[in-house]
Amino acid sequence: GTGKFFVGGNWKANGTKESVKKLVAELNDIKFEDDVDVVVAPPFIYLDMVLNSLTKRIEVSAQNSWVGKGGAFTGEISAEQLADLGVGWVILGHSERRHVLGEKDEFIGKKAAYALSKGVKVMACVGELLEEREAGKTFEVVFQQLKAYADEVPSWTDVVIAYEPVWAIGTGKVATPQQAQEVHEAIRGWLVDNVSPEASAQTRIIYGGSVNAGNCAELAKKEDIDGFLVGGASLKGPDFGTICNSV
Ligand code: G3H
Repeated sequence: GTGKFFVGGNWKANGTKESVKKLVAELNDIKFEDDVDVVVAPPFIYLDMVLNSLTKRIEVSAQNSWVGKGGAFTGEISAEQLADLGVGWVILGHSERRHVLGEKDEFIGKKAAYALSKGVKVMACVGELLEEREAGKTFEVVFQQLKAYADEVPSWTDVVIAYEPVWAIGTGKVATPQQAQEVHEAIRGWLVDNVSPEASAQTRIIYGGSVNAGNCAELAKKEDIDGFLVGGASLKGPDFGTICNSV
């Protein structure tokens, strides 16, 4: 792998004040290995509560941000507001935002650049649909999504790439370590050719899609898998701890 292991927990639109309090207590009890960066992404409405109760060992992320400066954009949250609250990260380009909310590559690339300009680091998601994989278009789709980020971001220093095959998200159908490694390696190569050898060597590429406490260790062994973006299993403190410590 490259750089420090990185595990994100994406809580999506789950939780109540009560369950968030319980999850934070579980997370605060975990003894993490030194060589892993841990970040959790609660829903916007719980960000402040989590920031005020979670151990500083774990960083906090939002799950989305507005494409530019805040203002008359009903229902949106701007990157400068995230920075104001003390939120250090944002997940952008998640498949649910692409395929349920209809966000397009260029819009996502602009969001990434704007968040970075406000000092908010980015988990930049990419990934193919099942029909795209079956049509042999996985690399083509992933490279096009990467290009949209590369066209906008001035530097990859504060970016983590999350490869999340859509067919593996929330399905229990995890990519095999070989399937994930193949795409991670291709992303690494794309960065050499299209950004720089330095960006390729230094950018963490994490895998997401049905990662759990039982399958993380095999995936983590692969050379180009630098960590995980975890959905469902990040809602269970002990399981998330196991995944973080699979470094
Ligand atoms: O952002 C996380 C991914 O969408 C993975 O979700 O672990 O529930 O499959 P999942």
